Amino acid sequence: MDSIIVRGNGPLSGQIPIAGAKNACLTLMPATLLSEEPLTLTNAPRLSDIKTMSELLASLGAEVSSLQDGKVLAMSSHDLNSTHADYDIVRKMRASNLVLGPLLARMGQAEVSLPGGCAIGDRPMDLHIHGLEALGAEIDQRDGYLYATAPKGLKGAEVNLTFASVGATENILMAATLAKGTTIINNAAREPEIVDLATCLRAMGAQIEGDGTSRIEVQGVDRLHGATHPVVTDRIELGTYMLAPAICGGEVECLGGRINLVSAFCEKLDAAGIHVEETANGIKVARKNGRVKAVDVVTEPFPGFPTDLQAQMMALMCTAEGTSVLEEKIFENRFMHAPELRRMGASIEVQGGTATVHGVERLKGAPVMATDLRASVSLILAAMAAEGETVVNRVYHLDRGYERVEEKLGNLGAHIERVKV
Ligand code: EPZ
Repeated sequence: MDSIIVRGNGPLSGQIPIAGAKNACLTLMPATLLSEEPLTLTNAPRLSDIKTMSELLASLGAEVSSLQDGKVLAMSSHDLNSTHADYDIVRKMRASNLVLGPLLARMGQAEVSLPGGCAIGDRPMDLHIHGLEALGAEIDQRDGYLYATAPKGLKGAEVNLTFASVGATENILMAATLAKGTTIINNAAREPEIVDLATCLRAMGAQIEGDGTSRIEVQGVDRLHGATHPVVTDRIELGTYMLAPAICGGEVECLGGRINLVSAFCEKLDAAGIHVEETANGIKVARKNGRVKAVDVVTEPFPGFPTDLQAQMMALMCTAEGTSVLEEKIFENRFMHAPELRRMGASIEVQGGTATVHGVERLKGAPVMATDLRASVSLILAAMAAEGETVVNRVYHLDRGYERVEEKLGNLGAHIERVKV
């Protein structure tokens, strides 16, 4: 179990490379199940979640080769020999449920363990089930598993999502590419990761229009062929590292970043008094002097403020001038970083889905515990501008979504090191 020790430091400077998107890669990898031909992903992030997904695909009979130090994933699912996604893997990572749609489409059946809840919420799959049943799947839920079959094959249909679920959109979209006829997904998720998946599927021969809007239309085809696809830049890693100079001061350029991936987030940084500028190579973020101003945040599906940046934004608001109200409307329990930030001297009141942050001059280092992926990185960001030393425990959460975080932040001048305990 590693810990990360952070000592408060002054302004940061330099460039930080932004990796390929974890949440794009985790849906692009199961797409290999849709074709007998190889699918190669470039610009893949090097994360433990990617390793977990590789294990799951291998358990189904797919081959996944990690090349060029993990940045290239060469996959082939020519010979699948299982349609069973076991609880042991799925419980570690909810995104494992994204094999459901592809397996149904390719093999006509799937047994996928329900992921169970996780730290941030219950994480049900009713929207996935509703959408796939609309395409003709029969899905039985028993013993903690979904037993899905498509006895007559999948048939295109109109699917109305009651919530713009990212995962449900991805499962239904992948299944629809091989369904007979036309599928319309209404109230589809609009995240850049959906557009990236649709782009990859089109490269494989799928016929998809409207990705990135609330209405996606798919014309099913008989088969998909192989492709090579670059994973889109990770907008959540981007936003996370844009907050480093915002919290510590200084100027940092996030290489590969583009404003259109994080526009709602950038509007909030601008309102807080942070300078954000798109350059030829990425996004430059600077905080010259004086305290940032408190701003209010409400998390929403894309293009709204991303829930995956809420914890990190709270870290910035802890030392802002004024009071900030953060409303978490996507997950039911995503303020577990608040008690840990309080240990560092933050003044935060949590009432249900609303957190009120009263800015203080400066936080003070303390031993804290990471509880989930985004909470853990918010503690590191807060610690980088705190007085004294902070020890962040249980950083395995961090490694799920941030590659070499201590190296990337250390290169900007942060005093951060990983210790084995
Ligand atoms: C994806 O999760 C991301 N994960 C999450 O990122 C992200 O927070 C989330 O989208 C929202 O943007 C991956 O892409 C691997 P949802 P997903 O389905 O697909 C409810 C991170 O930190 N819901 O849009 O699971 C659900 O309970 C992770 O990288 C249902 O009620 O998100 C939640 O409250 C965390 N029924 C809300 O919708 C369903 O069938 C959002 O879920 C499905 C979801």
